[in-house]
Amino acid sequence: MILNGKEVAAIIKDNVKEKINLQLTLAVILVGDDNASKIYVRNKKIACDYVGIKSLVYELPASITQNDLLELVYELNSRPDVTGILVQLPLPKHIDEAIVMENINPLKDVDGFNPQNVGALTLGAPKFIPCTPLGIMNLLAHYKISIDGKNCTIIGRSNDVGKPMALLMLAANATVTVCHSHTKNLTDITKTADILISAVGKAKFINADMIKSGATLIDVGINRESGKLCGDIDFDSCVEKAANITPVPGGVGPMTIATLMQNCVLASELQRAQ
Ligand code: GUN
Repeated sequence: MILNGKEVAAIIKDNVKEKINLQLTLAVILVGDDNASKIYVRNKKIACDYVGIKSLVYELPASITQNDLLELVYELNSRPDVTGILVQLPLPKHIDEAIVMENINPLKDVDGFNPQNVGALTLGAPKFIPCTPLGIMNLLAHYKISIDGKNCTIIGRSNDVGKPMALLMLAANATVTVCHSHTKNLTDITKTADILISAVGKAKFINADMIKSGATLIDVGINRESGKLCGDIDFDSCVEKAANITPVPGGVGPMTIATLMQNCVLASELQRAQ
């Protein structure tokens, strides 16, 4: 089965659209002119327009100081009309991402990157969950792919995907293995995976010889090869051997954005419950 993230994301966005009965506002901060980041921000704005969330996009020069960026975050934190705040990553090298994430109001942290939200997820009582891993859980749930007792291997240990993904899979009773650049005998491990999630950023890194027959393959990679978009998983090589696979584009990417829309609704609910 091809796990059609684009289709499932459309269903989720339609649900969000129906649910919204107040004016919600998402503030998105884009620093510098990284092309990929610009495309992500544009897609987030398009999704906001679709579901009826107002978006405020702040485009700041790469030369902005950390203090000036924090000043904007503080202002957005205290504005009652701003529901959610998202600082697009990566940030320029002179800005400490951890300090910026720490200073986003945890009740407006729709990315789930603030340490309070990371801690809550770690302890099993999550509020905001990072959009890509939660989007993957939503996609698996939509297709009724069972997780309980399955071997789940995640390649990549980033704060935005690998680590929260591992926590969500643990919470869903998978046996979780996290692999990374120092992992020895990667193929021995990936071949045991019932669910294999790759977030490496290397075009066609996973081929059919590295997977278990009947596995579910989730591709978080967005890479370019000869100008063409492709994932970490060699789709053509793996599609026959896998039971389920996400395409790139049209798999995880749209799920991330649809989940961000859900997180904006959650932000509004959490703030009203205060
Ligand atoms: N850059 C790449 N992915 C993401 C994401 O999910 N959130 C933010 N803020 N920046 C990103």
